[in-house]
Amino acid sequence: MNLMKKIAVLTSGGDAPGMNAAIRAVVRKAIAAGMEIYGVRRGYEGLIDDDIVQMTSRDVGGILYRGGTVLRTARSERFMDPAWVDVAAENLRKREIEAIVVIGGDGTYRGGRELSQRGITVAGVPATIDNDLGYTDYTIGFDTAVNTVVELINKIRDTSDSHKRTTIMEVMGRSCGDIALYSGVASGADIILLPEIDMDIAKLVDRVRTGRELGKSHILIVKAEGVDMPTGELREMLESLTGQETKAVIPGYIQRGGDPTAHDRLVADVTGGMAIDLLENPDKRPADSFAVGVRGTKAFAVSLEQAITEKAEFRQDLYELAEVLS
Ligand code: F6P
Repeated sequence: MNLMKKIAVLTSGGDAPGMNAAIRAVVRKAIAAGMEIYGVRRGYEGLIDDDIVQMTSRDVGGILYRGGTVLRTARSERFMDPAWVDVAAENLRKREIEAIVVIGGDGTYRGGRELSQRGITVAGVPATIDNDLGYTDYTIGFDTAVNTVVELINKIRDTSDSHKRTTIMEVMGRSCGDIALYSGVASGADIILLPEIDMDIAKLVDRVRTGRELGKSHILIVKAEGVDMPTGELREMLESLTGQETKAVIPGYIQRGGDPTAHDRLVADVTGGMAIDLLENPDKRPADSFAVGVRGTKAFAVSLEQAITEKAEFRQDLYELAEVLS
């Protein structure tokens, strides 16, 4: 029996390719389950401002393959203040909206926890290019970002090789180096620098020199933005210590845009779909508020609390493999 009649959906934090696919899955599944579904614009900012509209199946037509988020997003400062969270919860309650699907990363889930403490049922759908949520194998947007970086590296290689340069490519990922690690492995980077591993300058210089001695025409270093030393400083230091021309490339927000890959769309579909299944069926939920994740491409759910606290496991095996293969 379907007891829940009205639910809402929002996207929050950094946008990620595949968020639109997740919105579409949530909206269409909810309508198929006989629910009314409301879209909240600009994440928690819109929830505070009561920027909430009912959505139809047609509202999410033609968005599956588009990057960004049609609901827009924000990093809400106001939502850090309990008084504004009260306002947001009241905006849901006055419309008799009992549950909200929050699509985003760690900060989004923390915001969701605040709402759950005010009696709203919260369903988390993992979307961030950083892949920094420990309870799930993948977050929506990560695969697209990695593929974007790999494509950019292919282009950088052409010019780096022609000039016999060393190139540092700085990629996104504040405290989690997964974009750097996965794109570095997939691109055959000579060196991968991650926030999870202390940088050893002597070893770094030695690897650049050894690479040259082995006859490599160019050296590619993939560095996560969360690594302690600023990329400009590292470039100067490497150039002076190795005596080799060294360039730095920072693609920045380009990594967040673009059409989602098939994998990201699939993860969005299965997680968005399961979020609605569990809102329909309270008995199947691990807790009243929960988050959906994937193992491979199969969806599962944990309590929202577990999703927030579970630490991401560092892929030491991948890191070590990359060292050997380069
Ligand atoms: O969380 C995704 C992310 O793109 C991080 O990789 C990056 O550090 C951050 O967001 C940038 O945030 P903002 O869009 O607020 O500048």
